[in-house]
Formats: sequence, structure tokens, C-alpha cells
Amino acid sequence: MKILLIKLGGSILNHLHESFFSSLRDLQNDGYRLIFVHGGGPDIDWMLEKMEIASEFHRGLRKTTPEVLNVVELVLSGKTNRRLVSMLQRHGFRAIGLHGSDAHLLEGKYIDQHGLGEVGEITSVNCKMITDILQLDLIPVLTPLALSQSGTTLNVNADMAAGAIAKAMNAESCIFVTDVKGVLRENRLVDFLTIEAAEQLITDQVIIGGMIPKVKTALAVVQEGIGKVRIVSGKEPFFSGGRWIGTTFSGKAGVQA
Ligand SMILES: Nc1ncnc2c1ncn2[C@@H]1O[C@H](COP(=O)(O)OP(=O)(O)OP(=O)(O)O)[C@@H](O)[C@H]1O
Ligand SMILES: [Mg+2]
Repeated sequence: MKILLIKLGGSILNHLHESFFSSLRDLQNDGYRLIFVHGGGPDIDWMLEKMEIASEFHRGLRKTTPEVLNVVELVLSGKTNRRLVSMLQRHGFRAIGLHGSDAHLLEGKYIDQHGLGEVGEITSVNCKMITDILQLDLIPVLTPLALSQSGTTLNVNADMAAGAIAKAMNAESCIFVTDVKGVLRENRLVDFLTIEAAEQLITDQVIIGGMIPKVKTALAVVQEGIGKVRIVSGKEPFFSGGRWIGTTFSGKAGVQA
């Protein structure tokens, strides 16, 4: 099965360009089965503010107290996931919304409970269930929530969740759709990045905030042998006539994915 894992940033959901959906259709016609994972940053921030709950980030990861986790679940599952599923259906795609923690779809472990709270990373993915859903000709749309060993829910950075699913499902390609064209340096798109170059941009603080977990995940996925890993913008065309616009990652210096 030729799988394309699409991570959709919460920041882009309300600003998706029409070409996003036509590109999806082109990719489906190209034989790709689609799997979505989405974030929900702006929606979560909005709700936290309304509820007067403070929230902070550490290197792009949201510190998640139990109180913040309640809001994260409420917003991701009740609002953001619903909106994406309904947008896809309006455009003719058969999408099904799933909570990552349902039916052990995503299992995880705490990263640093003391420092980050209820934040996790994925330890296992229920590939059988995802494959069954794909075989029903449905497009799974997952929230980045995982079940811990003790049965609690973990907030997982959506980029990291996407990377783990791409690896587990042996995706042919993985794209991170966000609100910028790709990795920018002095306002210009870096269209190709090796592992070393990307790490240097993080060290030099050219890559900051939410771009850190995205780039780190992209690098981890590339190191896993998945050849086509890209960061693209959902605000403008990113795939037309077989050509991609964005940042493409490569494991080897000088070798274009
Ligand atoms: N070098 C860089 N190039 C491009 N964007 C960068 C860079 N460094 C930091 N950023 C920031 O990273 C942001 C994208 O990450 P962010 O986490 O905000 O969005 P997302 O992952 O698409 O959404 P969500 O976190 O809701 O899933 C950009 O909007 C930009 O502000
Ligand atoms: Mg992000």
C-alpha cells in the first residue's frame, strides 16, 4: 500500500487554499492512500485564553497540566477534528475522525512528566486498525492523543505523532503542511536540507518554536529510510504537475529525495 502521511498544522486549518484539495486528488490518482494527523495550536490557545488557563511552551512543546489536557482533548476532538473531517467530506473525500487514544490506535509514554506534564511520545501504533480503515476506502483523520501504559491520555506534539505513524505504517511519503512555505532562512525558502544542515539551523536559532519539533521529526523520519519527507504550505499550491514546492529533507549530503 502506497501511503502518504499528511500532518496538518492547526495554524493552517482555517486558511487552506482550494489547491490543497485538488493536490490531494492528484496524489490519490497517483495511487497514494491518505492518512491525516492534525494539530490544533490556535484553537487550543483561544480556548485556554477564554478559560483563563495559562500555558507555556518548551522548545515547541506545550507544557500540559491536567487542566490544560482537558482543554486540549476538548478542542482537538470536539472542534478541530470535526472541522477537518467535514472540510474533507465537503470536497468529496470519505474521511473518518478518530481520537488517537481510541482502541489503542496510538500508545505513548511520558517524555518528562516533571517538566512537561501530560506530554508524551508515541511508543506504538495500531497499524492493523489503520490498514483496515484504509481498506474500507476511508481516510483516517487522527488527533495527536495517545494512551499511556497506565491508561491516561497523553498530549503528543502533532508533528511527532505524524512521524511515528509514518514510520510504523512504512509510508512512502510524509508531508508537514503548515502556514509557511517550508523552512525559511532570512525570509527565503530553503528547498533542500540535509540532516547536518538542519541541525546547524536549529543550533543557530534560525529554526525556532514550532518549527523545531517539525524539523526534528522530519529528520527522524528520513533517518528511518522514508525517502520523501517535506514541509509545505497549505496556503498556496504545493504540488502541481508532479512538482513540489517546500523544503525536502534528505538523509545523505547532496542526495536529493
Ligand atoms: N526557520 C523557520 N522557518 C519557517 N518557520 C519558522 C522558522 N522558525 C520558526 N518558525 C515558525 O514555525 C511556525 C510553524 O510551526 P507551528 O507549530 O506554529 O505550526 P504547525 O505545526 O503547522 O501547527 P500546530 O502546531 O497547530 O500543529 C511558523 O509559522 C513560524 O512562525
Ligand atoms: Mg506545531
